Amino acid sequence: METVIDAKGIKKVYKISKRAKGLFGHIANLFYPQYTYKHAIDNINLTIKKGDAVGFIGANGAGKSTTIKILSGILSPTEGSVTALNVSPHKQRKQYVAQIGAVFGQKSQLAWDLPIIDSFHLLQKIYRIPEDKFQKNLAQFTKILDMQSFIEQPVRQLSLGQRMRADIAASLLHSPELVFFDEPTIGLDVVAKERIRAFIRYMNKELGVTIIFTTHDMQDIEKTCDKLIIIDKGKKIYDGTVNGIKNHFGSERKLIVQFSEEHQIAEIPNVQIKHNNAISKEFLFKSKDVPIKSLIQHIFENYHVQDLTISEPDIEEIVRDIYEKGV
Ligand SMILES: Nc1ncnc2c1ncn2[C@@H]1O[C@H](COP(=O)(O)OP(=O)(O)OP(=O)(O)O)[C@@H](O)[C@H]1O
Ligand SMILES: [Mg+2]
Repeated sequence: METVIDAKGIKKVYKISKRAKGLFGHIANLFYPQYTYKHAIDNINLTIKKGDAVGFIGANGAGKSTTIKILSGILSPTEGSVTALNVSPHKQRKQYVAQIGAVFGQKSQLAWDLPIIDSFHLLQKIYRIPEDKFQKNLAQFTKILDMQSFIEQPVRQLSLGQRMRADIAASLLHSPELVFFDEPTIGLDVVAKERIRAFIRYMNKELGVTIIFTTHDMQDIEKTCDKLIIIDKGKKIYDGTVNGIKNHFGSERKLIVQFSEEHQIAEIPNVQIKHNNAISKEFLFKSKDVPIKSLIQHIFENYHVQDLTISEPDIEEIVRDIYEKGV
């Protein structure tokens, strides 16, 4: 598959000016400005292929938005190189933005006081979108995103979910082949989230648009993305498939057993036992330490079992674990 984004060794260091205290400090600062430096992203390599839908996750402050801004040409990297759609996003910004879309959930890109439809017409002029393409996209997005009822209203009157849909449509009117979503589902209810996921899926699967999707909701990722990148404190710690993460990190497994009578369960090496109640226990273990077959065998041989379930590690749990404990 064709490579859409190739980022090599990108770093971003923010320079933050230190606030001096008092009048003297303030004057001194004018002559000898003091700075601290924040290493927001540190040596990240990324390759994104055409048609990929990539979830991009990490704890608050991990460097997701910074990365998205670099990849979309808003910021330049302090070090490293980015090639996207065969150009340098930052240096050939004008040419680049005509081919990409970017949605920032935290900040609307639409004019606050203009009716949505007017903003759309403005974008048509800015991007020089041919009338037939514009009308076709507008009709399609209005329908799929169900915008008919509020398209004449200005952004300031819209609910968050309506505003997000308008923002998404706005960023796609020029049919970009690559779209960045930075938390497009933030603050939305379950139904609104589902609508946005469906639209992103449609863009990716039906229109072949390459997607990079940042979110704190793992359901967003599981329902729209095939690939997953995790960053932690500015460093990439996972790059693979969404399902692959279970094998990569999620070695913790759980066996839940209902006994037919009360048992005193003896210790089992490498297995943590949780007592839910007198007859229900949970056995937590790692597949690499304890083969599940021998554990089940051991339990059946020594106790009276009524029922038993094995739970698969859940992506949400795995990710929470990584954020809390690191890799
Ligand atoms: N303009 C800036 N000036 C200085 N530091 C910044 C700036 N923008 C971001 N940072 C810092 O860089 C780090 C990464 O921030 P970034 O916004 O990329 O994180 P994020 O992964 O998007 O987090 P969140 O999930 O909270 O949106 C943070 O420590 C943040 O404080
Ligand atoms: Mg962010």
